[in-house]
Amino acid sequence: MLTCGGAPARVEGAVGVPEWEALAEFYDEKQGDTGDLWHRALIDPVLFACIGTLPAGTRVLDLGCGNGYIARRLSRAGARVVGVDSGQRIIGLARARESVDPLGIDYQCSDAGQLGFLRTASFDLVVSNMALMDMADAAAPLGEAGRLLKSGGRLVASICHPCFDTGFCAWSLERIERRSTVYRKVTGYRALAATTGPWVLPDGSEARTPYYHRPLSWYARALSDSGLLIRRLEEPAPLPELLSKNHSPQGEWINEVPLHLVIEAVRADLPLTVPAGATMRSPDGHRRRPSASSLRRR
Ligand SMILES: C[S@@+](CC[C@H](N)C(=O)[O-])C[C@H]1O[C@@H](n2cnc3c(N)ncnc32)[C@H](O)[C@@H]1O
Repeated sequence: MLTCGGAPARVEGAVGVPEWEALAEFYDEKQGDTGDLWHRALIDPVLFACIGTLPAGTRVLDLGCGNGYIARRLSRAGARVVGVDSGQRIIGLARARESVDPLGIDYQCSDAGQLGFLRTASFDLVVSNMALMDMADAAAPLGEAGRLLKSGGRLVASICHPCFDTGFCAWSLERIERRSTVYRKVTGYRALAATTGPWVLPDGSEARTPYYHRPLSWYARALSDSGLLIRRLEEPAPLPELLSKNHSPQGEWINEVPLHLVIEAVRADLPLTVPAGATMRSPDGHRRRPSASSLRRR
């Protein structure tokens, strides 16, 4: 049995993604208690607008919680929060923050797709902030979100935009006379693909973490297969803080083409029936008719 910050890990043999393990201290410092500039002035305002005001005692699960800054913000707003991340070191750092400032958050070290230790239909809200595209298997965590949400409960997840931040894309700037136009070039959109994304460390060196591109339709199918109906899609635009403080010109460019997507989906107990003879494509790409059992609570 592996241990995670001193407590037994929930998944036998579970180990965090090595690249994330190596960056745990950097990432904890970077996100702190408020999130970094890109989170504060771009992603989080939209994430929290989708979450809305939560009644006191709302049961929340934060999937891929990292150092737990979103979990803490929700807890301070009155929610009862469980945070899950596969990173042993980052969960240790989240727990260290909990011991300094106890909020009652239960941090668990586990793969987000293997949450058998959590009770079916026991959460009102599952949040996942910028984590699903970092997971090698995102279908299992979405399946767990569907299982763990009460009927009418919601998933609110932010991800790198599956259309415009694919890992196989680039900005292109065209200057004609005195007018500049920015374009986003995307290739290889349809293929499920693994690549890496860069982080600039405080000493100026670069580290990379795994990144998994999945087309937008993949997410829609995986959500539907998990009993989650998309209610809202938002594409965060930068707040003035990002435009004024960011030395990268990307703030202006993101005003043209979004790099992030926030999804709100509702756990439905509707029979997700399809017309006789119709087929749908499952997350693994195979065509099949949905079975009643695939929509039933496990
Ligand atoms: C970009 S960080 C986001 C962390 C946090 N949500 C935030 O907004 O700061 C992605 C996180 O996903 C976690 N992760 C990657 N694969 C995972 C998996 N299969 N199960 C649980 N967590 C995973 C990593 O350890 C990392 O902490």
